[in-house]
Amino acid sequence: MKTLILYYSQARGNTKRIAQMIQERLHAEMEQIQTRVPYTGSYDAIVNQGKREVDSGYTPEIVPVSADLSAYDCVLIGTPTWWYTMAPAVRTFFQNYDLSEKTVIPFATNGGWPGHVLKDMEQACPGAKCVLSHEIRFDSTGGDTLETPLQEIHTWIDDIVSLQKGGSLS
Ligand SMILES: Cc1cc2nc3c(=O)[nH]c(=O)nc-3n(C[C@H](O)[C@H](O)[C@H](O)COP(=O)(O)O)c2cc1C
Repeated sequence: MKTLILYYSQARGNTKRIAQMIQERLHAEMEQIQTRVPYTGSYDAIVNQGKREVDSGYTPEIVPVSADLSAYDCVLIGTPTWWYTMAPAVRTFFQNYDLSEKTVIPFATNGGWPGHVLKDMEQACPGAKCVLSHEIRFDSTGGDTLETPLQEIHTWIDDIVSLQKGGSLS
């Protein structure tokens, strides 16, 4: 299975860190989703801006993904949790790119309140086969301390590797 890892990461690089852990095992191509206009200001200001954007369903313009998605059978897509759902940039990604017929593995980092982020991601790619969706918890202060046990993450990545090799899921 040809696999691409896409992620958006804004505050602490937490989602990027998880994407890199996956990439180290999968050796798949990886690309970061980026907004055209970067978020600026304090953490609290971005938290508040994020609330307004999530509440209004705002989808910021993103830099086009350079990978040719049609070349991949499987796409991992990672987001930080913003107000119990995916970050607006990731919502834009799902709007702009058709993942139907692909295997999609959504993952989301959070500070302890995941809400409905994975469900929302699964619903945002109709026609895709979503598998192995996973949440990874960091500390509740918006910091970069990983709280999900590493063993749990490794087991999840093992399952992704076995899926990529065409094996069965445990
Ligand atoms: C705008 C904004 C909204 C957030 N909303 C939530 C939330 O609803 N639930 C939660 O557990 N964490 C929330 N967080 C914390 C982040 O999900 C968490 O720190 C994440 O790991 C950050 O990932 P990143 O460093 O890749 O951006 C929020 C952070 C920001 C900046």
